[in-house]
Amino acid sequence: MIRKLGLLLLLVLIVIQFFHPDKNESSVISVNDITNVAVVPDDVQSILKTSCYDCHSNSTVYPWYYAIQPVAWWLNNHVVEGKEHLNFSEFGTYTPKNARHKLDEVKEVLDKNEMPLKSYTVIHGNAKLTAEQKALLTDWSQQTAAAVKN
Ligand code: HEC
Repeated sequence: MIRKLGLLLLLVLIVIQFFHPDKNESSVISVNDITNVAVVPDDVQSILKTSCYDCHSNSTVYPWYYAIQPVAWWLNNHVVEGKEHLNFSEFGTYTPKNARHKLDEVKEVLDKNEMPLKSYTVIHGNAKLTAEQKALLTDWSQQTAAAVKN
């Protein structure tokens, strides 16, 4: 019985290797990219790229283990959900009210240490934010929110 279950599990693991979600890899920078609709200083941009863009933009840099299922489903889920909540590549599509709200949420998640996700920084150590980086990103989010025109 146990052996049969083991074989079945192995079979399932083999079969799911053939099903991969589409990658989130856009090669163009959208006109609605945050850099086209707001002031994003280089140091802020670099933090966003390293710590947030894998889940909050149209271009994810995938780790090698994305090749293994069901890991790909799990990672893809973060990207899809992350982008649903906030997509810096499509920031220009948000209404002024929504844009301000998203930027306020950026401050909120940083204050609460909710982002980047813990499961992500365990592997992407360089995505962990230092106190200075957090302050920089928080200040930027508030300045940018204040600059959003109606
Ligand atoms: C590994 C993927 C991942 C990374 C990296 C990541 N996020 Fe997220 N983020 C998510 C997911 C998934 C959600 C939606 C579910 C949740 O709130 O946990 C989310 C939600 C959010 C939200 C919306 C919160 C709300 O209340 O709706 C904000 C704002 C946010 N992230 C900001 C950031 C910022 C800023 C960074 C970089 C410093 C970042 N995230 C890095 C995956 C990620």
